[in-house]
Amino acid sequence: MSRDKQPDTKLAVVIMAAGKGTRLRTRRPKVLHEVGGKALLSHVIATSSELADGADIYVVVGHEADRVRKAVADTGVQFVDQKEQRGTGHAIQCAREAIAKYDHILVLSGDVPLISATTLQHLMTMHLAQGAAMSILTARPADPTGYGRVIRHAPDRPEVDAIVEQKALKPDQQQIGEINSGIYAFQTKPLLAHIGRLSTDNPHGELYLTDMAAHLKAGGEKVVALEVGDPEEVQGGNTIAELMAIDARMRMAVANRLMAAGVTIFRPETCVIDKDVKVEADTVIEPFVQLLGNTKIGTDGRIRSYSVIENCTLGNDVLVRQGCVLGESTVADGARIGPFAHLRPGSEIGQDAHVGNFVETKKAKLGKGAKANHLTYLGDAEIGAGSNIGAGVITCNYDGVNKHQTRIGQGAFVGSDSTLVAPVAIGDGAYVGAGSCITRDVPSGALAVGRARQTTKEGWVEARRAQREKKD
Ligand code: UD1
Ligand code: MG
Repeated sequence: MSRDKQPDTKLAVVIMAAGKGTRLRTRRPKVLHEVGGKALLSHVIATSSELADGADIYVVVGHEADRVRKAVADTGVQFVDQKEQRGTGHAIQCAREAIAKYDHILVLSGDVPLISATTLQHLMTMHLAQGAAMSILTARPADPTGYGRVIRHAPDRPEVDAIVEQKALKPDQQQIGEINSGIYAFQTKPLLAHIGRLSTDNPHGELYLTDMAAHLKAGGEKVVALEVGDPEEVQGGNTIAELMAIDARMRMAVANRLMAAGVTIFRPETCVIDKDVKVEADTVIEPFVQLLGNTKIGTDGRIRSYSVIENCTLGNDVLVRQGCVLGESTVADGARIGPFAHLRPGSEIGQDAHVGNFVETKKAKLGKGAKANHLTYLGDAEIGAGSNIGAGVITCNYDGVNKHQTRIGQGAFVGSDSTLVAPVAIGDGAYVGAGSCITRDVPSGALAVGRARQTTKEGWVEARRAQREKKD
């Protein structure tokens, strides 16, 4: 399909993405609804880019066009405007000028995201081999309701007479199980020669691209169908329920890929794992875990239930206990996190370090074996190897205008309920007494205590009682 090597097969991809998605009943345009962690349209664009020799990609936009353009601006696709959405046929009419210079176009629907590049290649190969003016990708799903049906000229022949939309089906066409996927290859010349014939004489009053099958056939052109093996590949997402079925399928495919590579996933149907996530063998993922973005997890780890990990790198033998939230952070081998810990962006948890219950970190670096086991906030902080941060310690990193650093050396001990007012440094092996408010640097090996001295009044309770009784 190279445009340079075979000028006779110059190809463009046209993705129809201008529709509103009325059946979704949402304000968000249909093609920006997310499945498998990204917008429907992004999936279709990604698949189009996989095609051999990089065909030019055009996206037809209309409803909320600016929002759609913006969402996929970084993909380098070109846009065609369909100001009024008068149907799929009208979408391609709007692309007339853009497609005229290509010999063939591959038309994809923005709401059919599971289609594979391999299947599209098969469609193109058949289209070229048959010398067809229009080649329709079809399927036989268990329930064809709602889809356009394909009327073949004869049962075992590829030639097609027409596509009939659900609402226009005649009683004797109701039992046809072969549906139109909304994906087609066209020879541009005959398409442009006949596309003006489309009319709105149908139950929706729209210009249907599907009517091109009958028009091209009537014009003496060849129209053929190619049935996909797996009907779920061309499942359309027209309602939220259909979108969620597509999402579940994508997630399951990812889980299956990981399980095939030696990752144990308990109740995989409850886990949400993005496509680009990498997990090494012998790691265990418990139910209701979310692994998002480009998260990478090493071997022998365990991610316990209800944890959400996004764009993080975890080493080997890492335990993330229940209910943790980890984002844009790294966790080295053997570290223990949680339960209920929050690693915010820029956290670097060292080898064998412990981050315990209700601990929040942000741009915090914990050295090898450092421990912050309970109820702590560590922000803009560096904690040396082997240091122990007691329960309730807080780095006061923000003065209302700027953020400041706290530096704690190796083997230091910060007693419970201490506040470290940054910028401040605590040297190697230093001790901070519990309940201290530390505002000045503590040298290595020193003990700092910064709290009000305790006063104890012996017999005070008895004395007060006696005083009260006297009053009464
Ligand atoms: C369409 C087909 C139907 C097929 C089904 C497969 C038509 C008339 N029917 O129906 O035979 O079985 O897909 O999923 O084509 N769009 C535009 N501009 C418009 C209207 C739609 O760009 O004016 C875009 C939509 O954003 C969508 C795609 O075209 O991405 C398909 O439109 P949709 O309304 O979903 O068509 P279906 O009813 O699903
Ligand atoms: Mg649709």
